[in-house]
Amino acid sequence: MKKIIELIAEEVKEAFAACGYEERFGMVSLSNRPDLCQYQCNGAMAAAKQYKKPPIEIANAVVTKLSESDILSEVTAVMPGFINIKVNTEFLAAYLQEMTEKEKYGFEEAESPLTIVIDYGGPNVAKPLHIGHLRSAVIGESIKRICRFAGHNVIGDVHLGDLGLQMGLVMEGLRTTKPELPYYDENFRGEYPKEPPFTLAELEQIYPAASARSKEDPEFKERAQNTTLEFQLGRRGYVALWHHIMNVSIPDLKKNYDNLDVHFDVWKGESDVQPLIPDMVKDLIDRGLAYESQGAMVVDVQEETDSKEVPPCIVRKSNGAALYATSDLATILEREKLYSPDRYIYLADKRQEMHFTQVFRVARKAGFVGPETEISFLGFGTMNGKDGKPFKTRDGGVMRLERLIADTTEEVLKKVSENREMSEAEAKEISGMIGLAAIKYGDLSNQATKDYIFDLERFTSFEGNTGPYILYTMVRIKSILSRVSELSEVKPVAINASVREYGADELALMLLAARFSDVMEHAYEETAPHKVCQYIYELADAFNGFYHNNKIIAETDKVKQGEWISMITLVLHLLEVCTDLLGFAAPDRM
Ligand code: ARG
Repeated sequence: MKKIIELIAEEVKEAFAACGYEERFGMVSLSNRPDLCQYQCNGAMAAAKQYKKPPIEIANAVVTKLSESDILSEVTAVMPGFINIKVNTEFLAAYLQEMTEKEKYGFEEAESPLTIVIDYGGPNVAKPLHIGHLRSAVIGESIKRICRFAGHNVIGDVHLGDLGLQMGLVMEGLRTTKPELPYYDENFRGEYPKEPPFTLAELEQIYPAASARSKEDPEFKERAQNTTLEFQLGRRGYVALWHHIMNVSIPDLKKNYDNLDVHFDVWKGESDVQPLIPDMVKDLIDRGLAYESQGAMVVDVQEETDSKEVPPCIVRKSNGAALYATSDLATILEREKLYSPDRYIYLADKRQEMHFTQVFRVARKAGFVGPETEISFLGFGTMNGKDGKPFKTRDGGVMRLERLIADTTEEVLKKVSENREMSEAEAKEISGMIGLAAIKYGDLSNQATKDYIFDLERFTSFEGNTGPYILYTMVRIKSILSRVSELSEVKPVAINASVREYGADELALMLLAARFSDVMEHAYEETAPHKVCQYIYELADAFNGFYHNNKIIAETDKVKQGEWISMITLVLHLLEVCTDLLGFAAPDRM
């Protein structure tokens, strides 16, 4: 199904052509003066320059031509040459009716689906999930769902940080309390125990303690660094210990992501590609791309057009160790082999921008990815507290994700339990759903690159531009629909069953609903979940305006009532699709 804006533009383009002007001047956009019109075309001004005529003359001619259109109603030319457009309401109602009959409400999937790898989540194994990883998970999940909705083959990879210094820190931290473990004995030749030498709770203690100690005790830090390197080089006992760390951590990570309704297709990590590294680096050296600099191996990535310095990418440290960039490069090699993606999207804190610039440039220079492959980094801003500084716990510690979710859910529970009769279990379940929406919408409604302030009160409010407000609106529609389903005299009919006048509120709602495909396309093209948020906020607002000014259940004109039922059902479905793309859902009541 064509987008409504496309259908309008086609008419306007045709009119330009019929009047002897180039079609391209018939571009149409949403009106920036909704009080005057719904859509507008500013092409007459540009055409005026080319045809050396006053713009209003061109606009007038086009408007006269457009008076014959079946899909437009009031079209007017305004000085100096704007064309203001309103759509024909019969056409609009028919368009909405067609949406209800089409798969994906008329949204057209990509003709040739791309294979897209999305690298998001990126937790570091053995470290507790903290709110720094929240954004990556929430934004990445939404982008994954949007790309999939657009019809592409999407592979979401969690890309575990499972090799870094945290491993050496945990190993050394554990050694201080349990030095007798066989993992530390270089002469041990037997089989290592199957049981991990720690529980999850213990592991969660070991890392922060070791990390704190390393900041005060340089000797300890050095030992942890050496242990990390020895582990990376394959020391048997450390590798065995590493397996224990992974086996204890990963189920917990999975549980945490499940709670966030974030799901990865692939659970690979940095460790998976380590075997590829020696040959990859050797190849870079053999081809003269990598060269020695102060003992390290580096690849130049500065380009002539750069306005700032882009330092060489280090692919091997002087002690022989691989780095973050090396792992990312080897991961590209592996992904090329496994999926040959058309497109890569990476999500990480925007402070990692330089890292990704370097990695992408090496990958291109070395031909790891083809010239057609699109590879992009979506760097997100920081989630701050009300003081404008990175969000912390009350005592200034790192906020754990579980804590944040629990606090939010609790805040919602207070509201849900007020004046509502509900079992405790139901109230808890509903609060969980609303809490998740509060967190995710609070995050996604901002442009990803920007910092934002996590404001628990505002995010959990049932009013304003919040997740709970969207859910509240959906619940309201659900409740109307369930009430009418019990009344035998109320029956849905086609949205365009009758030809009639529409109220302003109703028309506003219809126009918004009709924009669905256009919004979805932009959200995909711009990898911008915030566009979806913006849309559903407007849609929810328009619904509530309509609801307040019309008595749906008491309406006596039964055809009109039936049309309304069909229309608000469509609105509910659109809200459901959109919230699902954002990664949350509405309860049946709240
Ligand atoms: N583990 C990294 C971090 O915590 C994020 C990983 C991002 N993805 C990547 N391919 N480098 O900062």
